[in-house]
Amino acid sequence: NNYHIGPSRDEVQAHRGASAIAPENTLAAFRAAAEQGARWVELDVALLGDDTLVVIHDDSVDRTTSGRGSLGELTAADIASLDAGTWFDPKFSGERLPTLSQVIALLGELGLSANVEIKQHKHHKSLDHLVHAVQAAIAGRSADTGIMISSFDPQALAAMHALEPDLEMAMLWWSPPADWQDVLKAIPSRTIHMNYKALSIALLEETSRNGVKVRAWTSNNPVELVSFWGAGLTGVITDNPSLFLG
Ligand code: G3P
Ligand code: MG
Repeated sequence: NNYHIGPSRDEVQAHRGASAIAPENTLAAFRAAAEQGARWVELDVALLGDDTLVVIHDDSVDRTTSGRGSLGELTAADIASLDAGTWFDPKFSGERLPTLSQVIALLGELGLSANVEIKQHKHHKSLDHLVHAVQAAIAGRSADTGIMISSFDPQALAAMHALEPDLEMAMLWWSPPADWQDVLKAIPSRTIHMNYKALSIALLEETSRNGVKVRAWTSNNPVELVSFWGAGLTGVITDNPSLFLG
């Protein structure tokens, strides 16, 4: 069956890696995404107390590792021994909480590109520190590793854009604010990553008319997006890329 309504292969991003089948934001999850044939992964980054830039969603290690504590109270030495796989499935025991630099190195080996989501947590004292840490880590990427940046924080995107003007900046929204066009202009950005529940055909027609890309997160059921592809939806961020890689 060659008939397929959905995104192109370059527009399917594995959310936190292939997090439906491997522990989120671990090297195993990024390998699993590559095995499924994904070309892009989404991952979350934040700083530890010693300014190590790590790949983790929450502002503490409690949910996704064997350890406890807020990121701001931990150092690279503290996280080195944590197990980031057993919580998901004992067969992933021994997975580590990776740094962004470690993940960037793996992406090069796997031929993957990454949507780096910059998390803004309360313990992050300086935005400047955060964006420079991201810049330093992505500087180590392979020539064929694509990078885009996303964030719920427009200031993080604006600061990152000032450092890396050639990278795509994607504004994350639960639902579009009334002044969405002005927010994008100020960054500047031409991409929205939207909660799929807030999508509408009317919004997509408006974004398309304005040359703005829209990717939907986090959808794990292609049926719920079917009516949006023709209206201008660009891509999808999913825990299970195989569902969309028809
Ligand atoms: O990038 C889309 C999605 O990752 C945003 O939400 O909470 O899963 O990081 P969250
Ligand atoms: Mg994310």
